[in-house]
Amino acid sequence: MTSKTVLVTGATGLLGRQVVKAFASHGWTVKGTGFSRADGSSILKVDLSNPAEIEKVLDDVKPQVVVHCAANRFPDKVDADPEGTRRLNVDATRAIARRCARRAAVLVYISTDYVFPGRPGDAPYEADARPAPTNLYGVTKLDGETAVREEFEGAGEGGEGGEAEARSGVGVVLRVPVLYGEADRNAESAVNCLMDVVERAAQGERGRVRMDHWALRYPTNTEDVARVCYDVASRYLAEKDKSSLPRVLQFSSEDKYTKYEICQLFGEIKGLPIDRIEPNTEGNDPTAAVQRPYDCHLSTRALRDLGIEVATQDFVGWWRRECRAFRH
Ligand SMILES: NC(=O)c1ccc[n+]([C@@H]2O[C@H](COP(=O)([O-])OP(=O)(O)OC[C@H]3O[C@@H](n4cnc5c(N)ncnc54)[C@H](OP(=O)(O)O)[C@@H]3O)[C@@H](O)[C@H]2O)c1
Repeated sequence: MTSKTVLVTGATGLLGRQVVKAFASHGWTVKGTGFSRADGSSILKVDLSNPAEIEKVLDDVKPQVVVHCAANRFPDKVDADPEGTRRLNVDATRAIARRCARRAAVLVYISTDYVFPGRPGDAPYEADARPAPTNLYGVTKLDGETAVREEFEGAGEGGEGGEAEARSGVGVVLRVPVLYGEADRNAESAVNCLMDVVERAAQGERGRVRMDHWALRYPTNTEDVARVCYDVASRYLAEKDKSSLPRVLQFSSEDKYTKYEICQLFGEIKGLPIDRIEPNTEGNDPTAAVQRPYDCHLSTRALRDLGIEVATQDFVGWWRRECRAFRH
C-alpha cells in the first residue's frame, strides 16, 4: 500500500493536534506545521505569513491533502492585531490555496459558524445560506473562504499548472462551531475555559461573575471534527469527478447550551457550587452597532448527503470521563 501524505497547518493547536492523530491512525504520513510551539522535528516550524515558507514546505512535503487549521481565532488578539490576523487568516489561506490548486492537492480549509450573523429565527444555516459576519474574526474567516474558492476556480480557468492538473485538485471549506476537547490548558478552548471559571468561582476568587445565558452554542469535540476532516479528505481525494463535490461543508454537534448552562453542568460534574455565577439573560441592545450572534447553528445536511457520518460523542459523557480521569 502506498502511503498518502497530509500536511496539517496549526498542528500545535487545539484542533490540529487531533487532525494529526486522525490521519496517523489511518496509516497516512503526516507532517504538521506550527509556529511558536513547533519543535522543528515532529512539528515543522513554518511562518505561514511568509509565502516563501509556504512554497518550501509544500515542495518538501508534497502532500496529496492539506488540512489548513492555522488561524488567529481569539477575539481579543484579532482586534489587537487586525493586520496580522488578515495576513494569517486571509493572505496565508490564499497562498496555500493557490499552491494546492497548482499541485492538484485537496485542501480542507477550517472555517467557522461566525461567518453567519446568528439573528434570532435564522438558524439552522445551510451551507449555501448567505454569510454576514458580525465581527472581524468572522470577516477574515469568510475572506479566507472566498480566497480558497477564487484560487481553485482561477486555476481551473487556466492558471499555472494547467487546466487538466487543476481539475483533479479541490478546495473545500469545513465550517465548525465552538470547539472543546483534549487541551494543554483549559484556556485553549472557549468551552474548556469555563471549567476554570467554575473552579475559581467556587473558591470565591473573583467575587460574583456574570455569565451569558442568552446566546446558544453547540460545543463540538475536536476528535469528532478531526474524524470528519479525515473522512472528507479521503472522499474528495478518491472522487474522480471532483466537479460535482460541494465546496462548502458544515459540521456541528446537536448539543445545545448557553455558556451559563455549561457552567451549571461543570459545577454538577465537579460537585462545586456555582452560586457566585449569575446568569446574564440580556440579549443584544437593538440600537447597538454590533449585534452579537444569538444562534449560528450549522446544518450538517451537505455532509450527510455525501454519506459522511455526522454523529458526535455526547458532551456530558465526555466531560464526566475527562473529570474522572483527571481525579486519578
Ligand atoms: N477553537 C474553536 O472554538 C474554533 C471554532 C470554530 C472554528 N475554529 C477554526 O478552527 C481552526 C483551528 O482552531 P484552533 O482552535 O485549533 O486554533 P488554535 O488552538 O488557536 O491554534 C492555532 C494554530 O495556528 C498556528 N499559528 C499561529 N500563527 C501562525 C503563523 N504565523 N504561522 C504558522 N502557524 C501559526 C499556531 O501555532 P503555534 O501555537 O505553534 O504558534 C497554532 O498551531 C481555525 O481555523 C479556527 O478559525 C476554531
